[in-house]
Amino acid sequence: MKLTMRLGADSYDIIISRGALGHLAELTDLSRRKVFIVTDSGVPAQYAETVRAQCADGCIFTVPQGEGSKSLKVYTTVLQAMLEFGMTRADLVVAVGGGVVGDMAGFAAATYMRGIQFINCPTTTLSQFDSSIGGKVAVDLGETKNIVGAFWQPKLVVIDPDTLDTLPRRQYVNGLAEALKMGLIADPELFDIFENEDPFAKIEEVIYHSLIIKKNIVERDVTEKGDRAALNFGHTLGHGIEAVRGIRGRRTRGFYHGECVALGMLPMIEDAKLKKRVRAVYRKLGLPLTAGYDKAAALEAMRHDKKTRGGKVKLVKVPGVGCWRIDTVDMAVLETLVLGKPIPPMPDAK
Ligand SMILES: NC(=O)c1ccc[n+]([C@@H]2O[C@H](COP(=O)([O-])OP(=O)(O)OC[C@H]3O[C@@H](n4cnc5c(N)ncnc54)[C@H](O)[C@@H]3O)[C@@H](O)[C@H]2O)c1
Repeated sequence: MKLTMRLGADSYDIIISRGALGHLAELTDLSRRKVFIVTDSGVPAQYAETVRAQCADGCIFTVPQGEGSKSLKVYTTVLQAMLEFGMTRADLVVAVGGGVVGDMAGFAAATYMRGIQFINCPTTTLSQFDSSIGGKVAVDLGETKNIVGAFWQPKLVVIDPDTLDTLPRRQYVNGLAEALKMGLIADPELFDIFENEDPFAKIEEVIYHSLIIKKNIVERDVTEKGDRAALNFGHTLGHGIEAVRGIRGRRTRGFYHGECVALGMLPMIEDAKLKKRVRAVYRKLGLPLTAGYDKAAALEAMRHDKKTRGGKVKLVKVPGVGCWRIDTVDMAVLETLVLGKPIPPMPDAK
């Protein structure tokens, strides 16, 4: 299956096909340029090796697994290795891994010699549904996520659903949360797969539906000035939760990104019946329904979020399946949603 992201001169194909990783050389030139393959220590080594075996002059650079690799420190080691490998502006970076590898290697490609070609081969559900397309590449700065980054479109995205066979179940479900988000904001058919069918058995349909939604939104609004903000459904609060309870670096207790997004979506659904249906899907998938987290610390993290400006915050709300709206509210309103406390009355002006 092939989709095309239509962005004028920056257009690119998205290939979805079982076994596609083994046919990368048929999709792009791997023989007349150097190929720098970035992967991480948790991605089965055979995937990057499958790519390297098709290159005339390829090397694999493996970073430690985990969000900790989306750091300036690891990014610098990648740039250094690219330089030592003799990469020029005519050469190619290939990411083989999840969102961490894609975001960080994409940012390295965006900035090395002012930008070189980049191909993304996502191997997690989250990256296959969502993060591999759209061109947002970034690293974190301490606890602040994605604050150093760029818009840098890949030249090609190759999605091989076979790679999901080795993904641990919790990681698999983590990505399904992002697909569920797409269904909620834009696609009742996709939501129906989650509610009434088996999304694991229908994974190729879930990938296809999710990518179509993201592609349509990105094509309308590539740099997130309008509609693309819908993709942040669940993310404003999700990022706050992630900052205080997320899995960072070597920490093993905490929530994954998709789990934080899932928790962040629930307060943004005002309709009680819909919220009940969404909670039933969470139960079916094994997503968290409640989280013991330091709400004050999460709110503090949100105050530093790049999307929170001048004490105002944009919240994406879903009033019904397949539709969304943005409410620009004071932080106090978000505090009420998170803490469940009424807003204190405004003091009399005397
Ligand atoms: N750029 C975007 O538009 C965008 C969108 C959403 C999320 N993100 C980012 O994506 C990141 C999360 O991505 P993720 O959920 O893919 O996490 P991840 O990249 O950390 O991968 C999760 C884990 O799975 C392992 N893994 C990867 N593929 C595997 C496979 N096929 N088999 C077995 N193990 C495998 C990895 O080693 C890692 O330990 C976050 O940093 C988030 O900010 C970016």
